[in-house]
Amino acid sequence: MSDDPDSGSIEATDINAAIRGTDPESETQGMTMKSTLTPTGTREFIRAISCAATPVTIVTTDADNLRWGQTVSAVSRVSDEPAILGVCINRRSPMNAAICATGAFNVSLLGPEHHVAADTFAGRSRDGRAPFTFAEGEWADGRNGLPVYADSVAAFECVLHSVTDIGSHHLYLGEVRHVVHTDAEPLLHLRGTYRTLSAHNTEGQLA
Ligand SMILES: Cc1cc2nc3c(=O)[nH]c(=O)nc-3n(C[C@H](O)[C@H](O)[C@H](O)COP(=O)(O)O)c2cc1C
Repeated sequence: MSDDPDSGSIEATDINAAIRGTDPESETQGMTMKSTLTPTGTREFIRAISCAATPVTIVTTDADNLRWGQTVSAVSRVSDEPAILGVCINRRSPMNAAICATGAFNVSLLGPEHHVAADTFAGRSRDGRAPFTFAEGEWADGRNGLPVYADSVAAFECVLHSVTDIGSHHLYLGEVRHVVHTDAEPLLHLRGTYRTLSAHNTEGQLA
């Protein structure tokens, strides 16, 4: 939740109510945002933006002693000072209420060997795992007590700064309070499939 009451952003509690359907005004605010494209155009937009490789992360939080996680590739550096991450989560996701209730979230950047976890937290059942399960034990508690993928390439612990309701998604800005990072290679998502960095970089070195 924002430390600045005058930030002008939608308060997390309002969004929380909107998601639970208890605040028709807020709900309407999201729904009145008209698409600028035809359905075909929207599909083309998604295909076009999928040509940009993105990181694969699991965004986590903890509400009412329940751990929540979701695979998210819409994660971006928004500001360096203060350090702010932007994260977009579909408005239909139950994670929204959990993040807003807790006012904090963590972002774990995955490596290539973590693609099964990425599927698990995208609701896809693989290797006999139940979807959205934390049971396998690759998880640790971050300094903020929220889950962090123990073997992640990098991890960011965030306090919720603000939430903006934008069409199909909610945009969360998180003030980064703690980071860890390694030299490990990240898992990427490109044109709908997982990829690894196997090419040389422009300096002729293996990335
Ligand atoms: C590689 C990958 C990236 C994804 N990125 C996002 C994202 O940025 N935002 C989002 O809301 N959902 C994203 N998803 C989808 C959610 O993880 C998924 O819809 C969610 O876990 C709920 O699952 P369900 O639709 O089966 O209920 C992504 C899924 C995958 C596999």
